[in-house]
Amino acid sequence: MSLVMAMTSAGDETPVHQPRSRPRYVLSFSNLTYTVKLNRKMPFSTAEQTKVILSDVSGEARDNEILAVLGASGSGKSTLIDALANRMAKGSLHGKVTLNGEQVESRLLKLISTYVMQDDLLFPMLTVEETLMFAAEFRLPNTVSKSKKQLRVRDLIDQLGLQSAAKTIIGDEGHRGISGGERRRVSIGIDMIHDPIILFLDEPTSGLDSSSAFALVNVLKRIAQSGSIVVMSVHQPSHRILELLDRILILSHGQAVYSGPPINLPLFFSDFGHSVGENENQAEVALDLILELEDSPGGTNSMVEFNKSWQQVRNSSDTATHGNLSLKEAVSASIARGKLVSGTTLEARNIMSSDVPLFANSMFDEVVVLVKRTMINARRMPEVFGVRQGTLLLTGFIMATTYWKLDTSPKGIQERLGFLLFAISTTFHICAEAIPIFLQERYVFMRETAYNAYRRSSYVLSKSLVVLPSLLFSSLVFATITFWTVGLGGGAGGFCFYVLIILASFWAGSSFVMFLSGIVPHVMLGYTIVMAILAYFLLFSGYYINRDRIPPYFIWFHHMSLIKYPYEAVLKNEFEDKTKCFASGVQIFDNMPLALFVFTLTLTLYSSLKELAKKSSTLARPKFRRSKSFCGVTVPPLTFVSSRT
Ligand SMILES: Nc1ncnc2c1ncn2[C@@H]1O[C@H](COP(=O)(O)OP(=O)(O)O)[C@@H](O)[C@H]1O
Ligand SMILES: [Mg+2]
Repeated sequence: MSLVMAMTSAGDETPVHQPRSRPRYVLSFSNLTYTVKLNRKMPFSTAEQTKVILSDVSGEARDNEILAVLGASGSGKSTLIDALANRMAKGSLHGKVTLNGEQVESRLLKLISTYVMQDDLLFPMLTVEETLMFAAEFRLPNTVSKSKKQLRVRDLIDQLGLQSAAKTIIGDEGHRGISGGERRRVSIGIDMIHDPIILFLDEPTSGLDSSSAFALVNVLKRIAQSGSIVVMSVHQPSHRILELLDRILILSHGQAVYSGPPINLPLFFSDFGHSVGENENQAEVALDLILELEDSPGGTNSMVEFNKSWQQVRNSSDTATHGNLSLKEAVSASIARGKLVSGTTLEARNIMSSDVPLFANSMFDEVVVLVKRTMINARRMPEVFGVRQGTLLLTGFIMATTYWKLDTSPKGIQERLGFLLFAISTTFHICAEAIPIFLQERYVFMRETAYNAYRRSSYVLSKSLVVLPSLLFSSLVFATITFWTVGLGGGAGGFCFYVLIILASFWAGSSFVMFLSGIVPHVMLGYTIVMAILAYFLLFSGYYINRDRIPPYFIWFHHMSLIKYPYEAVLKNEFEDKTKCFASGVQIFDNMPLALFVFTLTLTLYSSLKELAKKSSTLARPKFRRSKSFCGVTVPPLTFVSSRT
């Protein structure tokens, strides 16, 4: 109980020892029926096949209690929980779900309830405390002060029994972290950071060993006792777990075969005509009996019918003392008591109306928190940054030594063109290494945006901002290694421009990779597609084939090519200088078949061409200049490029 007191004080300044009674909640559902249309197998049959997944299921869940949905796998447990949590397409579900007798709008339900997903999607390098603190920063509005958020996180850690693991990282295959049971509790903690009134959990104990599962249900019991409704599904609860449950609903092929407290199970069975004996695992025995009945010819139909009549008799004596307050009154009373932390700043009036803000924080706050989280993650995984820098250093070194001090002869020009293209495409290829990182985050992103923790645009913005410093560093390293060693033109100004273009390529590359990992949710497939598209970008960049020779039906790819633009930019940097001479004297023949001739022959040819140019005024191009350096011909760079192929 002291936990409850501590927690309620988190969001409320008023002393919590006031006698005001806690508002009561009843979540009831009646005659829930859910059918799906099956894909028609036979093309000529017009009859639509339907499958009944839930059939006439009724029951209720109350605050301070755990309602557990039991049943064999495929019996409809997840479907029932989805139906209660309003996570289903409208129309297909029939029946009524009410909270304190009122139907709940999905917006309000989202605010006062939480749905805990089955998988633990967490950042492996954050500690338990940090993970919960980030959840608090996302889900609680910035009007809740930082110290209150910290208090809430501390209370939650106590409530979840995670005190000893608070400073431990979550961990993954490569890093030792917290145990599976603790991980599951952290996941639950994230989802209930705002202290919701209703918790929906689909098989929270699956995959845990029996003692972790027991500890987890114990935690859920504590949460329920703090004034929440806990609705969960369990596949095969142990005897110890069954004792913690307040109500159970056993499903068999979508029909309720028993609903009520687990203690009454043996009585129910003896009334039904099957004695379950006196041993201590009566409930477990009863569950087994239902499984046996499912296989029998009559199925569980007789039991379903028996349950209905049995419930009617019993429920008539159990008149509802719950739900004495209307939903609105109850929710505002809860807020006043410090529950629903995200609602503390909202007036009770607001919370009931439809203009409840969709996001707790402004876009700026979201970006700041996201950037902070990514930075912590990146700092804890320096190997990712290290590998990139290492690759870049090695590539830079190989390129610098291979293209050592290029000259401006036609051959040198050709090599310059090759070097620049390779430099640009290297930046893009290095970005592909981020695919698995984005894919890992993809699911966390989807989970967080599913409950509106932040705007999707904030995420994209934060991602592009957070990579900038490291990309700038990479660009500087690469440019410094290659610029002077290769002998690129433009001096200091040219260097700065070169750095900027490399940075732009990196930035475009990492955004491109992130975009693709957003639409291709598979590592190997992601790599293949990224590599293929980069290859096409390269093919149509203008180096391998001239723009005017690209088939018209592929020209769009040339314009889409992310490599084309930075490539053109570095070419401009290199060749735009009009005073520069790129082929002097007889060098103009170097890249032509004439180059194969004997040198004296080309020399004669060159002299006669010059004479011809002197005489003829119409022969304006190529322009021969007689300067000191005896530059034979000036060639606009891109024309020169195109004349090569
Ligand atoms: N959209 C659907 N189309 C066809 N069958 C479905 C659909 N959704 C669920 N089912 C079926 O309904 C049954 C109950 O599913 P589910 O609620 O997931 O069961 P449980 O969680 O108890 O294992 C299963 O047999 C499942 O195959
Ligand atoms: Mg399920």
